[in-house]
Amino acid sequence: MQQLTVRLMDMGRILTGQVAIVTGASSGIGAATAVAMARAGMDVLLAARRQDRLAGVAQVVESLGRRARIVALDVAHAGHERQLLDEAERQFGRFDVVFANAGYGLERDVHLTPDADLRAIFEVNFFASVALLRESARRLRAAGRGGHLLMCSSCLSKFSLPGHGAYAASKAAQESICRAMRFELLPHGIEVASVHPITTTTEFFSESAARSGLRGGAVPEHAPRWALQPPERVADAIIDCLRRPRSEVWTSEIVRLSAALFNACPWLFDLVLRREANRRVRQLAREGSDAGESVRH
Ligand SMILES: NC(=O)c1ccc[n+]([C@@H]2O[C@H](COP(=O)([O-])OP(=O)(O)OC[C@H]3O[C@@H](n4cnc5c(N)ncnc54)[C@H](OP(=O)(O)O)[C@@H]3O)[C@@H](O)[C@H]2O)c1
Repeated sequence: MQQLTVRLMDMGRILTGQVAIVTGASSGIGAATAVAMARAGMDVLLAARRQDRLAGVAQVVESLGRRARIVALDVAHAGHERQLLDEAERQFGRFDVVFANAGYGLERDVHLTPDADLRAIFEVNFFASVALLRESARRLRAAGRGGHLLMCSSCLSKFSLPGHGAYAASKAAQESICRAMRFELLPHGIEVASVHPITTTTEFFSESAARSGLRGGAVPEHAPRWALQPPERVADAIIDCLRRPRSEVWTSEIVRLSAALFNACPWLFDLVLRREANRRVRQLAREGSDAGESVRH
């Protein structure tokens, strides 16, 4: 009996029968997480804009013996959070876990980013995620039940990179608000975590390149091969967090420690980034632009 108790404690919280809502579930990390949740015994409400892709993920969830429902919507539309939570309550009678994961990247220097693009990326990555977790928290509290709320941030929440300022800022804002919510909601039995993937092999980079007017492949050329991870790796880490709650979900200790070091010693990060700045100077010089001069000073 004691052995059985120890083994059950080792497995952490039981997820079987719980209901999850996942946004950005039509591809990449969201799709992989929905499937991992089904494997862990959870039913899933899947949301994104592409209905056909959601239907494909729903089929996989159902083939694992769990229920799946889909909602095709744009999270940038006001009220999307109420639509999703209403649907989960109508279809499943409840929800226990919410993963605000829908998001996209933008690769452009800040001084070249129009206001509309800056606001648009915050609308999807930040405001929509906050709206969903905030309304989820209100309903869980009203129902007097605990739950687990997660937001997909990024390793770039800890250190910004040239060309990724708007994206990194939206991810830092997500992390920051999750940290506050975590301790606001802990007394109510509601867990909050931010997720910090490193370079993950999804449609993210081609989508980001398209939005930024760049030609782009599956993953950025500058990303070291060792740092590439499949979305299933992030999904497994999220399931682990649902079983054993924590404030941040990471899939690379090297990147996590580097981020901590960069935050403690900004001059070290400057040294690393200076190489990137010099590369840009050379590139601009090759392109015959005098903008290289301004970067050099
Ligand atoms: N890939 C990486 O290296 C990486 C690293 C760190 C963090 N992340 C974060 O991980 C999350 C998932 O990205 P991913 O890598 O899995 O990329 P992905 O394959 O491109 O998935 C993005 C998902 O978000 C959905 N989405 C985007 N805009 C939406 C909108 N306005 N309304 C509804 N759904 C929307 C997309 O679905 P539809 O197009 O069907 O709407 C898609 O399902 C993002 O928040 C991203 O910032 C990714």
